[in-house]
Amino acid sequence: MCGIVGAVSERDVHGILLEGLRRLEYRGYDSAGMAVIDSAAQVHRAREVGKVAALAEAIAANPPAGSVGIAHTRWATHGAPSQINAHPHMSGDRLAIVHNGIIENYQELREELKAEGFEFTSQTDTEVVAHLIEKKYRITGDLYQAVSQAISHLRGAYALAVIHANEPDHMIVCREGSPLVIGVGIGENFIASDQLALLPVTDRFMFLEEGDMADIRRDRMDIRDREGQVVERTVNRFEHGSDSADKGEYRHFMLKEIFEQPRVIKATMEGRVTAKKVLEQALGTSAGDLLKSVRHVQIIACGTSYHAGMVARYWIEDLAGVPCSVEVASEFRYRKHVIQPDTLFLCISQSGETADTLAALRQAKKAGFRAALAICNVPGSSLVRESDLVMMTQAGPEIGVASTKAFTTQLTALLIFTLALARHNGLSEEREAEIVEALHRVPGQVEQVLALDSAIAEMSGAFMDKVHTLFLGRGSLFPVALEGALKLKEISYIHAEAYPAGELKHGPLALVDSDMPVVTVAPNNAMLEKLKSNLEEVRARGGELFVFADSQANVQAEEGLHVLSLPSVHEVTAPIVYTVPLQLLSYHVAVLKGTDVDQPRNLAKSVTVE
Ligand code: G6P
Repeated sequence: MCGIVGAVSERDVHGILLEGLRRLEYRGYDSAGMAVIDSAAQVHRAREVGKVAALAEAIAANPPAGSVGIAHTRWATHGAPSQINAHPHMSGDRLAIVHNGIIENYQELREELKAEGFEFTSQTDTEVVAHLIEKKYRITGDLYQAVSQAISHLRGAYALAVIHANEPDHMIVCREGSPLVIGVGIGENFIASDQLALLPVTDRFMFLEEGDMADIRRDRMDIRDREGQVVERTVNRFEHGSDSADKGEYRHFMLKEIFEQPRVIKATMEGRVTAKKVLEQALGTSAGDLLKSVRHVQIIACGTSYHAGMVARYWIEDLAGVPCSVEVASEFRYRKHVIQPDTLFLCISQSGETADTLAALRQAKKAGFRAALAICNVPGSSLVRESDLVMMTQAGPEIGVASTKAFTTQLTALLIFTLALARHNGLSEEREAEIVEALHRVPGQVEQVLALDSAIAEMSGAFMDKVHTLFLGRGSLFPVALEGALKLKEISYIHAEAYPAGELKHGPLALVDSDMPVVTVAPNNAMLEKLKSNLEEVRARGGELFVFADSQANVQAEEGLHVLSLPSVHEVTAPIVYTVPLQLLSYHVAVLKGTDVDQPRNLAKSVTVE
């Protein structure tokens, strides 16, 4: 999704802007651009369709020199991906703006501005904002005032960065519904949609709050809240280590992130579990009282995080005996709810900036849900700030658009949460100890699965020329099948569907033939025998099966039935371990097909618009 970078410095900033855009590539985008004010107070703008590398090439011969600049990667919402729709947008040749988000009332503003003589060169909602600010600037002669007045007319979500050649020493930024962070330098300051973009230049960050506006200069910045009061925002040091945005020895971020899982799962457990039990205080000092009173859990999330929520429902109902509902945020936010008393509202999000998830949370608060817990991977994100209780996953920055380590750390956090909740709902100490011990074994088991990488790579050849695939799972492994299918479609563009194996004969069996590979996860659990019968149904129709099975599950390879043996895993932790071979399978299929693994077409890492 769109990414913003900006810098106010004494040195030339185009290199900083380009590197920042490169580091935002993971968000997904289709064009890139920058605008810089030079020493003669002229704005130079460059925009290209395609990758940041194309922009770098376009400016290589004659880079725009200047110490104040803004840059952007665009993910098309209003108007096709094209050079004229790429940001920065300008009003005249002095004002330039970059925008992340959506302006809902842009049509009516566009008509008004057109009638007043402003000429539009793009189809974007952003250009409307550029002209609106310029209109206010002509009246006030002050960029801060102009932006402040202009945004009072906007409906929707936005993070904006604005520069004007008449005021070449500073930049005005604001946020309402889209993320924006200020990077604090020495004698220079920066802004970006994500702190990762600025790690080469600083490790100190201030997160703007909703409604904040800031005047960014080389040596200072003034931040005001929605009411126009001057406010201080805390300076945070970056937590993860600055090399996280590098691929290291790996060919793709996705592969690196898959291989990081043993370490980050362990990190997510640290300080939260002893050898035999969960430390409930690790969820916050008030967690005990809250958990005692929870009678229902409502989980909200999108994409991969939604699949984590689906697994958690099995755990919460099974281990804690507490009813649990799971819904995708984009549906939840647009319907009426029957609020059950003492419902805990639980949002799961890697980025903490997903627009639908945030909107659902805000709506839930209004509707009277009691308390909100966030399971999130990004410190300082909007979701973290707006929730009552927070449980951070420790996945570190996830760059690959297809989520991998965020998912398995979400599952780890969700299992810890479930055990804390279950303790207040009759789970015995012995059973808790058994599951915590099983959780401690997970990082080692994931290592064992990673050691199967070349065997899985070999298996992936069978998928290369296929158009459709089917993923099957039962019980808590059904969401794992859904996640496996999502991974495959995201990065290899092969159509993949997931079904609970018991539903096979109610429709999808009609599709099964030798051109439709069927992938199954088969841990040794209570559902194993039933699953085996489902596999027979596939075999009998000539379907080719790829089974990831517990070594004790006694599933034998034969013609048309490929079996990969996995370590024996506790029934409760199986969804975490069994996710990993499916991630590797998708990865290798995508590599064989030659798709853009880390930045698949049309997708964005952080979906900050509705
Ligand atoms: C996008 C990403 C997915 C992610 C989903 C939810 O679609 O491409 O990988 O699962 O958003 O994002 P969140 O940050 O809320 O987990």
